[in-house]
Amino acid sequence: MIGKKHLKYWQRGRDFLGVEYPLIAGAMTWISTSGLVRAVADAGAFGVLAAGNMPADLLEKEVRTLQGCGCRFAVNLITIAPNYSSHLEKVASWRVPYIVFAGSFPRQEEVRIAKESGAKVLCFASNDSIAERMIAYGADALILEGSEAGGHIGHVSTIVLIQQVLFHYPQVPVFVAGGIATGRMIAHLLLMGAAGVQMGTIFAMAEESPCHPAFKERFRKARAREAFATPQYSSALPVVAVRALKNKGSEEFGRLQLELIQKLERGEISRIQAQYEVEKYWVGALRRAVQDGDVEHGSLMAGQSVGLIQDSRPVKEIVNGLVAEAEETFSGLGL
Ligand SMILES: Cc1cc2nc3c(=O)[nH]c(=O)nc-3n(C[C@H](O)[C@H](O)[C@H](O)COP(=O)(O)O)c2cc1C
Repeated sequence: MIGKKHLKYWQRGRDFLGVEYPLIAGAMTWISTSGLVRAVADAGAFGVLAAGNMPADLLEKEVRTLQGCGCRFAVNLITIAPNYSSHLEKVASWRVPYIVFAGSFPRQEEVRIAKESGAKVLCFASNDSIAERMIAYGADALILEGSEAGGHIGHVSTIVLIQQVLFHYPQVPVFVAGGIATGRMIAHLLLMGAAGVQMGTIFAMAEESPCHPAFKERFRKARAREAFATPQYSSALPVVAVRALKNKGSEEFGRLQLELIQKLERGEISRIQAQYEVEKYWVGALRRAVQDGDVEHGSLMAGQSVGLIQDSRPVKEIVNGLVAEAEETFSGLGL
């Protein structure tokens, strides 16, 4: 599918990930199961298994399934998940080929443990100083994710991060994420120096995604402007913004934040406990939407890219469509 003349634009990402197309289906808690990751691998792209807060035995089963099919894949570890330390230790001992650190940022020691297990390490960078720090810690590649993305997000938009980081750190492969859902955009990002891209929302909509039909139907109808980022009400309770479709669940999250702030002010809980309650809320709310189809009270985490996706298609069709459009774009530019 990739024309010989255009291979040079895709090559760095292909070499790093060891797949045909350097398109990463980013981890999505409850959604990126071994089934979806396998479908992505079968389509020639690169899937990431979401460890979320999975019990270790289930995570091991998922990892072994993927190792059994001989595909390239990564495991996504959430540094703020209660199971994180044991996840890291176990995943390192299972010798998975790639580890993605998400949530907050890993410590240097944790990057070292991952690398010593033989895994290649990808770290998120949501601004330039974090990018610099992750490279210094030994990250093999960066996921440069802008605030248009779905789920937990940083403050800086993809377009600014491209200029701040992509243009300045040629020493590591950079995969750009947030708001991407067309092959045309992928072609232009490769021309700007990206090794590839990471997408989430488009794969949550895929036929093989385990999301409840009601969840996918809500995504199908959604406009880009409906995927909004949650505010932080008080510096006493710092929360990472989450981008999701607005529904009753978003209002409930607002009320939860206010209740927690009041408890903090009364000295009834610590800041750490309050932040833990916030993350527990998101994991539960996302599960309600994804698995139970509760699109009113559950969390509909989605990137603004939701406005670019109108249907649910098989993963293979999505990947082939993106690559074909990127290739047409190169040709259209006379490349
Ligand atoms: C429903 C949902 C759940 C997500 N969960 C995770 C997660 O568990 N870990 C992670 O690193 N990123 C998570 N993300 C972010 C995606 O991996 C990806 O980086 C992001 O969706 C890219 O933006 P896009 O949705 O505009 O393509 C999630 C995104 C969505 C939409």
